[in-house]
Amino acid sequence: MLNSKFKQILNFNKLNRLNILLKRTFTTISPSESLSNNEFILSKMTGKNQNILQIQLNSHKNRNALSRTLLDGLKAEIHRINSTQEIRAAILLSAAPKYFCAGADLKERKNMSETEVELFVNELRQTFQDFAEVRVPTIACIDGPALGGGLELALAADFRIGTKSSLIGLTEVALGIIPGAGGSQRLPRLIGEVKAKELIFTAERLSGEKALELGILNYNVENYEDLETKAMEIAEKITKNAPLAISAVKRAINLGIGEDIRTGLNIERLCYSQIIKTEDRLEGVKAFLEKRLPEYKGK
Ligand code: COA
Repeated sequence: MLNSKFKQILNFNKLNRLNILLKRTFTTISPSESLSNNEFILSKMTGKNQNILQIQLNSHKNRNALSRTLLDGLKAEIHRINSTQEIRAAILLSAAPKYFCAGADLKERKNMSETEVELFVNELRQTFQDFAEVRVPTIACIDGPALGGGLELALAADFRIGTKSSLIGLTEVALGIIPGAGGSQRLPRLIGEVKAKELIFTAERLSGEKALELGILNYNVENYEDLETKAMEIAEKITKNAPLAISAVKRAINLGIGEDIRTGLNIERLCYSQIIKTEDRLEGVKAFLEKRLPEYKGK
């Protein structure tokens, strides 16, 4: 199966984890079958082929702060994405303009014991990692504040789009805590150690324009309405391509990014080998030779 050279390069845990990810099987349910009835999350299938999932944060009273209920809703959406082949991209946004997510629910947090805080933050961290690893490309759309955990959630998406009203920052140290849901690891990987340290240590709140300049955002558009248009434009381009290939290359990039080049190339090799046996690979070549658009089935 895996040759001995590869075993030498990857340590046992890493190898195990990669194997688990490669062998992950998905139960099949229809995407609409499991539409969330969580009051803080609205979701719908959209796009030309109804294969783009829009996950909308819908907790206006507390600016979409990360409460227990909202976290449970997010987990259900992640499960849904991993449970159906019909979803080919996911867009995360607020159901209303002017705010994306205000981070930890500070009112709920106030009543938690030390143990409860630790357990909840661990769960948040794991859930955001699960979101980072979902099968399909994800796009976070940020209008208004994405602060603390709100930015950590957006950092777990594959791409981010902001607006002229975005307010972006890992502001935890101003509250006597540290980014605890992946932010201390993802931001330095995204924009480099030195810039990330400055932003985290100063708890600065950046404009969309500045966040674009630093590479936190892929695009910065005018307003909330333009966010959805831009995200759908990207998602539509993605969903024209072979879905299993996209999942495999997402996995290759995610797993390889922190590794040395040789380990990364071996990860790429393993991910490529998963694609060789797919019908879509044959369809891609066939369509090219027949001078027509491919019809990918995700098989
Ligand atoms: N947790 C719980 N409730 C929050 C919240 C949070 N993180 N952020 C905002 N809210 C609540 C406010 O308490 C207020 O509730 P109230 O009407 O019962 O008083 C309501 O949402 C509106 O907040 P307000 O500050 O009036 O709105 P705003 O639009 O002027 O500002 C923010 C929005 C997000 C910029 C501001 O609320 C803020 O800075 N929040 C804290 C963000 C933060 O530091 N997050 C990091 C957590 S680790």
